[in-house]
Amino acid sequence: MTRIQTLVALALGLVLAGPVQAAPMVIKFSHVVAENTPKGQAALLFEKLAEERLPGKVDVQIFPNGQLYNDNDVLLALLKGDVQIAAPALSKFSKFTDALQLYDLPFLFDDLAAVDCFQQSPAGQEMLRSMMDKGLFGLAYWHNGMKQLSATRPLRVPADAAGLKFRIMSSDVLQAQFQTLKANPQKLAFTEVYQALQAGTVDGQENTWSNIYSKKFHEVQGSITESNHGLLDYMVVTSTRFWKGLPYDIRAGLSEALAEATRLGNRLSDEQNAQARQDIIDSGRSQVLELSEAERAQWRDAMRPVWDRFRGEIGGDKLDAAVACAR
Ligand code: LMR
Repeated sequence: MTRIQTLVALALGLVLAGPVQAAPMVIKFSHVVAENTPKGQAALLFEKLAEERLPGKVDVQIFPNGQLYNDNDVLLALLKGDVQIAAPALSKFSKFTDALQLYDLPFLFDDLAAVDCFQQSPAGQEMLRSMMDKGLFGLAYWHNGMKQLSATRPLRVPADAAGLKFRIMSSDVLQAQFQTLKANPQKLAFTEVYQALQAGTVDGQENTWSNIYSKKFHEVQGSITESNHGLLDYMVVTSTRFWKGLPYDIRAGLSEALAEATRLGNRLSDEQNAQARQDIIDSGRSQVLELSEAERAQWRDAMRPVWDRFRGEIGGDKLDAAVACAR
């Protein structure tokens, strides 16, 4: 073939192949829990809805179980652009803001209705933007639910926790909460908890029913106290640079998909925790202790002094707004 003939053949080939399709934008979403949990399910829902709304434009890839990053690394990975979305527990942002410590205060919210009330208030919405100067952009709150206490021995009253080592998330409020019980808190990534419990390097932990069940903590903890003493919720977060740099149609489609996944996922979280609670009871591997009102009041009285210690850092106005929701 002459050069001219080759060029003509190439041009014809391009015309027959049609316009070149741009590859979909890959959006990596990293989290640490199992898929059969409120966050695991909401993330899958987001993937499905985003790809339906933006066909051929985005490829949302979910990485559960800490496959890509654990909680200590994922926020830095977001800032570096190695991952685009994450949803760490609200307790895991303390290097970036003091404000979110509010959510760790024990016995602040009685149920998810009170949590919704606060998260949707101006004070709650403002917190989604509290890390923008650090490059993190909060997109939504996702629920898990109320935390329970588990240990190698039954915890019926606060004195039962004294002297035990408890795994906690990386939060100074949670550290103070266990110190008021004269227990020894140890900050540890979620992906390391099962092994630490199994090996006995820690004696107990606090978590939701769905996290306890899906990670089999109940198989290595003899007793779980239904304390509902604190909240485990998430912030779906991205980097400000990534979010602001998105083409308008993609940002709008992702926002819509996220709003829908949030609405549906948050509605199901109570149900999933109730199911996990029942599954734990049915397994017979761990006893579930229900507290009387008087016993629960003892835990509340023991833990509540933590509020005064953090009120200044969190902001009294925010705390008052959360308390108003709890009434
Ligand atoms: C934990 O570390 O216990 C939780 O934050 C895990 C999670 O993401 O629910």
